[in-house]
Amino acid sequence: MFTMQNLREHYRFTDEDTERLLSLQPLAEENLERFSREFYDYLYSLPETTKILNSSNRPRLSEMHNNWFMLLFAGIYDNHYMNHLTRIGHAHVRAGLSVHFVNASMNQVRRFTLALIDENYSDREERRFLREAVEKILDMNLDVMSTSYREEEMKKVFVSRKVESFLIKATERFTYGLNLALVLALAGVSLSVVTLFVWDILHIFKGDMEKGILSALGSLLILWMMIELMDNEIKNLKGGKFNILVFIGVIIVAMIREILISTLRHDDLTTQAFLAGTLLILGVVYYLVSLAQKEHPKV
Ligand code: HEM
Repeated sequence: MFTMQNLREHYRFTDEDTERLLSLQPLAEENLERFSREFYDYLYSLPETTKILNSSNRPRLSEMHNNWFMLLFAGIYDNHYMNHLTRIGHAHVRAGLSVHFVNASMNQVRRFTLALIDENYSDREERRFLREAVEKILDMNLDVMSTSYREEEMKKVFVSRKVESFLIKATERFTYGLNLALVLALAGVSLSVVTLFVWDILHIFKGDMEKGILSALGSLLILWMMIELMDNEIKNLKGGKFNILVFIGVIIVAMIREILISTLRHDDLTTQAFLAGTLLILGVVYYLVSLAQKEHPKV
């Protein structure tokens, strides 16, 4: 971990830079409200940051952000200042803010402050020195803030990063293996369904026409769903998304087959009504899931 002294050396931040930033203090004070307005207009223009702002104490937050802005021009850049910057990264991680938005909003702050200098200083040389000092202090801020951000995120590790990444990789491979076994099992079951279909057709030739045709139709329906199921699994293996609708479809088809057989068996009315009722419920579930998928394609 670097000290403020290290940081000043690495960024070639001189005592003259301190003087220049201090000289900007009255201008910053004058434009503090404008800074705050533009900063929050920007944050409210993005859905991700708006969400965080809406769940925070807005007056307290803007006081903290304004205070940070004014400290840029306070002329005191010691280890105490560095601790303050370190805390910011921790606070942002706690708030669930991605470091990406800190970088992006820092860009806005940079543009705002440099524009302020351009508007108020006519001397080219003076403007260049002031701009350089501002660039340095903002980059130093971003440096410390993002380092402490990473440190805070690292703390989220449970045992050790190496062990955890090994475990995650091993589990991923295991799941992939299971999926592969599932596809093979599905292929095996599909073959059995083909045998069932042939068996049903044989019934037709044996003279049991009605039973043969209805059972064959049921087996065909199942075969069709097996194809869909395998297709879905293969897509899943190739990294596609899992489609729950196919599974509901399979159960629906199995129910339809059961109803066909139940009619042939002349089951009592209660059994048939139970099967029909289950089919109706499954139909409603299928409809609702497909509706949800249309509205939220990620479901
Ligand atoms: C230039 C970039 C930014 C700077 C310099 C900055 C500065 C700060 C500072 C100084 C604090 C107080 C830390 C403490 O002492 O506890 C803070 C906290 C916070 N900031 Fe930022 N911030 C920046 C960007 C953002 C962005 C983009 C958001 C998005 C909404 C945000 C939301 C917050 C929240 C929620 C807190 C925590 C408040 C709490 O602890 O309750 N900040 N920030």
